[in-house]
Amino acid sequence: MNKNVLSICDLSREQIISVIDIANYIKNPLNTRGSKTPILRGKILGMIFQKPSTRTRISFETAILQLGGNAINLTYNDLQLSRGESIEDTARTLSLYLDCLVARVYAHGDLEKLSLHSNIPVINGLSDLFHPCQILSDLMTIYEYKKKLDGITLAFVGDGNNICNDLLLGCSKLGINVKISTPPGFEPLNWVINTAIEESKKNGSYVLITNDPVEAVKEADIVTTDTFISIGKEDEKEKRDAIFLPLYQVNENLIKNAKKDFIFMHCLPAKRGKEVTSEIIDGPHSVVWTEAENRLHVQKALLIKLLNPEFNYKEF
Ligand code: CP
Ligand code: NVA
Repeated sequence: MNKNVLSICDLSREQIISVIDIANYIKNPLNTRGSKTPILRGKILGMIFQKPSTRTRISFETAILQLGGNAINLTYNDLQLSRGESIEDTARTLSLYLDCLVARVYAHGDLEKLSLHSNIPVINGLSDLFHPCQILSDLMTIYEYKKKLDGITLAFVGDGNNICNDLLLGCSKLGINVKISTPPGFEPLNWVINTAIEESKKNGSYVLITNDPVEAVKEADIVTTDTFISIGKEDEKEKRDAIFLPLYQVNENLIKNAKKDFIFMHCLPAKRGKEVTSEIIDGPHSVVWTEAENRLHVQKALLIKLLNPEFNYKEF
């Protein structure tokens, strides 16, 4: 396992499956010792959040506490970082006290610097480019509802952002066909597309990048989207709404093209009436609350793999 998880790129197909496997074990209520046993007793997780978060921060804190460890919320403005101490020196210092760090940052490069100068594992809690923990939860959710990963098709409609980049990588690593539809100029990163195409070839699946949302959603098993206005893009709101609407909204009309038993996913927070209508996100095909719950289980699994790699949950 890599020391750091900055994107889905840092995890092999086998490691992703292993995280999902452990998360499923922990989630299963029959394994009563699974979810709250102190497997990580004494471990301390530092959390730096430059941007707001509901799911990521609280599920990480809950995860480490339920596994017997502790969390310290390193409020950005209370760190010397906010007064100009370098990321390098901050990383070196935090490594002396903590066992692991989760960080949500504006610029992915800052996270790379933080991880390069830390001796402890660094987990990306979202950057402008990637959101690996969300995608692990998405893959777990897909498996939960579809009972398989190979040979099924996911359609992402909207902004080719951090979610889209890691989703593309995660799906192609697991043999899920992935179709991405964005307005021209809002496609995911080029090198991510190329890496995903290579991965999908190895795994017998395909990648399609299109500007046509109908083509993307056609015969899809999973339809997903994300906000048009990611954190930090607020000043582009009017421009983006005009570009994305109405074509890239997931609504009754667009969804008619998906398979009858499609599931709808969204990382949340959602803007009803923008990227998705309430009929869809609050409708019978939506699995967004399972997706949000699974954040807790996959993050427990990830922390166990990083902080207690010898732990064998099957003998537990
Ligand atoms: N999906 C997600 O990461 O949510 P938060 O921004 O609330 O953490
Ligand atoms: N793309 C969104 C995801 C939020 C979880 C953002 O970056 O704000």
